Amino acid sequence: MFVVDVKSLIREGAELTDQSLEALIPSASTIPVSIHGAMRHSTFAGGKRLRPVLAIQAAVAIAGTVPSGIGRLGAALEMLHTYSLIHDDLPALDNDDLRRGQPTCHVVFGEAIAILTGDALQTQAYEILAGLDCPPASTVEIIRLIAQATGTIDGMIGGQVLDLEGEHQKPTPELVEAIHRAKTGALIRVSVVAGGIFAGATPDQVARLDTFGRKAGLAFQIVDDVLDVTQDSAQLGKTAGKDLASDKATWPAVFGLEQSLKDADRLISEGFAALEPFGEKAEGLKAIARFLVERKN
Ligand code: IPE
Ligand code: IPE
Ligand code: MG
Ligand code: MG
Ligand code: MG
Repeated sequence: MFVVDVKSLIREGAELTDQSLEALIPSASTIPVSIHGAMRHSTFAGGKRLRPVLAIQAAVAIAGTVPSGIGRLGAALEMLHTYSLIHDDLPALDNDDLRRGQPTCHVVFGEAIAILTGDALQTQAYEILAGLDCPPASTVEIIRLIAQATGTIDGMIGGQVLDLEGEHQKPTPELVEAIHRAKTGALIRVSVVAGGIFAGATPDQVARLDTFGRKAGLAFQIVDDVLDVTQDSAQLGKTAGKDLASDKATWPAVFGLEQSLKDADRLISEGFAALEPFGEKAEGLKAIARFLVERKN
């Protein structure tokens, strides 16, 4: 039996990502200092780095080892994720003042700089992706898939629109699934797929990673909704109870807490089936997926 130390996997993946982020994001003394300070404030506030870690472990499932240069893919994914959080917290969206245990970007730097900080993290992410150390065709495919996953059709931005427009409506199972797959699931799914492509996955292997990523991504947002109800703000590093207060379309609102946790577990088990042919090389990826549903923040 292959035993995986999931905490070490996450710590090592996070360190690799942070080294790249540290090297890539301009220093806080680079002009204009306000935006570079803001990019660093939000990026280095203490995120779990789970999207980069998923990309790294997906690459390991294909290549058997951590491919060199994948830290920069992880950094780009984390910058896109951080951009989505900065904009998610804006007064016009979820209006949150706590993120990653720190005051949100707009609280510290003002709304204008926070909007531009999200924009800046997004554009720099694509600059980094364009320079990835993998065959040009793979680089172009990774960029195309990530742009799609963060876009308006079944992507992050489209999901955020559905989420906002779904407030104060009685949520249906179909609506909440569409919201969750798009606003959160799509970036998680593409993180897994991009890690695989970076490591040279065949089309069949990419399809398997895609199935796994799709299920893990949905499970991740279901758990995010559950934690919003069951944990406090100190534990989460963001405002607890926010979804009920904003009357959001959440998984627990439709299915209840108990069923939500069962659904998350079931999705992860279904995702594991797609990874079967990878054998022991996918144990790290499976361990991270288990962590996604067992986490407490
Ligand atoms: C929070 O994501 C926002 C969602 C998409 C649900 P994470 O729980 O990964 O947040 P960080 O990166 O650790 O702060
Ligand atoms: C956020 O969903 C999804 C994105 C940032 C795209 P939530 O609004 O549930 O995330 P939290 O709970 O504020 O982190
Ligand atoms: Mg939101
Ligand atoms: Mg929010
Ligand atoms: Mg949430």
